[in-house]
Amino acid sequence: MIKPLFSLYQKASKWDRLYIYLRLKFFSDYFKKIDELLPNVGRLVDLGSGYGLLANLLSLNSERRSVIGIDGDGKRIGIAEGTIGSRRNINFMAEKVSSIVFKDSEYDGLVMTDFLHHLPYQEQEEIMKKISQSIKLGGILVIGDVRERPKWKYYISYLADLVLYISKPKCFYRSAEEMKKFLEKYGFYTEIIPADKKNIFSLVIYAARKEKAL
Ligand SMILES: C[S@@+](CC[C@H](N)C(=O)[O-])C[C@H]1O[C@@H](n2cnc3c(N)ncnc32)[C@H](O)[C@@H]1O
Repeated sequence: MIKPLFSLYQKASKWDRLYIYLRLKFFSDYFKKIDELLPNVGRLVDLGSGYGLLANLLSLNSERRSVIGIDGDGKRIGIAEGTIGSRRNINFMAEKVSSIVFKDSEYDGLVMTDFLHHLPYQEQEEIMKKISQSIKLGGILVIGDVRERPKWKYYISYLADLVLYISKPKCFYRSAEEMKKFLEKYGFYTEIIPADKKNIFSLVIYAARKEKAL
């Protein structure tokens, strides 16, 4: 899985390719698990998609998915757009989450990986309200994030965030139980799936199913 995805990024600079390679090396199992949780057919959005690694995987794994990746970093989105080639089931959009407008019940699935904890708690509330309205009843929200345990993996994850986002070093994590309650408030029934096996980061996946309208 790493090879076909990495080969899409031949036009990116040496440093971007190094980051992309390392991200795939550490996160490909996690991306694979997330891909399996999302529907094979329908409209999907990857919010905070960065370079579009997961969005690309979702698009390559099923032609019957229509995928959009959204990120606030125009440079990353430019690189992601350079990977599309002749595929017609994927698009990228440069936009800050605070200005996103979704239509009601627009998506079958929405995913965010390593993204939510970069938003202050108040902004997390605001975006979750929009997300909840944009996902169809019976649809799924999948969040990949950092959890509080085991502590040593949590500290490694925190350190990586500090180094990579030095200009915006504050992170807004939640414990798994807090996240579950947070998602419940927005109409999601959530399963907590540990994803840190054979990984040095304290990764967790929340598979949150939309069971009631807000
Ligand atoms: C750690 S990266 C994760 C990228 C991708 N989801 C992945 O797993 O490879 C976090 C991303 O969130 C984006 N981001 C942070 N704050 C944002 C905001 N307010 N609006 C949109 N994107 C934002 C950053 O530009 C960055 O690409």
